[in-house]
Amino acid sequence: MSLVKMKEILIKAEEENYGVGAFSVANMEMVMGAIRAAEELRSPIILQIAEVRLSHSPLHLIGPMMIAAAKEANVPVAVHFDHGETVGKIREALKLGFTSVMFDGSSLPIEQNIQETKRIVSLASTYGATVEGEIGRVGGSEDGSVDIEIAITSVKDAKRFAEETEIDALAVAIGNAHGEYKGKPNLRFARLKEIYETTNIPLVLHGGSGIEEAEFREAIQKGIRKINVATSTFNRVLKTINEQVPFNYYFSYHERVVQASHENVSKHIKMFQSEGRI
Ligand code: 13P
Repeated sequence: MSLVKMKEILIKAEEENYGVGAFSVANMEMVMGAIRAAEELRSPIILQIAEVRLSHSPLHLIGPMMIAAAKEANVPVAVHFDHGETVGKIREALKLGFTSVMFDGSSLPIEQNIQETKRIVSLASTYGATVEGEIGRVGGSEDGSVDIEIAITSVKDAKRFAEETEIDALAVAIGNAHGEYKGKPNLRFARLKEIYETTNIPLVLHGGSGIEEAEFREAIQKGIRKINVATSTFNRVLKTINEQVPFNYYFSYHERVVQASHENVSKHIKMFQSEGRI
């Protein structure tokens, strides 16, 4: 129970064939809502924050809070540093006690991505932490600041990347994108299956917001174990608040943020079939 390594959560999901939500959080209320949902539904979860969001939620403040919430939870919770870009921040997250980090070298040539990811694998191993890497390029961008074009992951690159880096989880680009999808997502399931059968490691689907239940189920069947969800939680909070304004009492607002996070996390836990796994 409580704070666990992400690898443990992914291994169990692999054995029992379900997905686990990695929910991006920006404040205490969102953390509280996510943990409340996981506890009620008896599901493991992953709490995460991306490096690009630290200008809003500084790591030295939100990191210890995420870890404290995970430690207190009565279900397994991994705390993950999403889309790590710099060794300095990744090291800071590890020192704080994050049990997992991602190094996102997807914009680099494969050689360099492999070399830099290997360095993070070596660093994380001194903390016993899990490492996620990315090959190919997921579309959009975590904070919407750039509209990155999707570069579908090749099976050959995925195999080489997984073998040479010895990462624990691999983020793939199969037509998925961060932020709002322009039209219906076009996920390449045949490619996903091939990548999974060739690499044999837990796969990660970024850009979970806007994907439908049937597609999540198929992705899980074909090897996806970690599913990242950010935009839909932020949007759910905004919608809830906009429907309720004006508030006359600050703590009514606070509770609505917790509830909105709880609602979106619960909905995704059910779709990912991780409910009742504890
Ligand atoms: P969405 O914002 O599309 O849910 O993507 C989240 C994500 O992949 C975080 O890394």
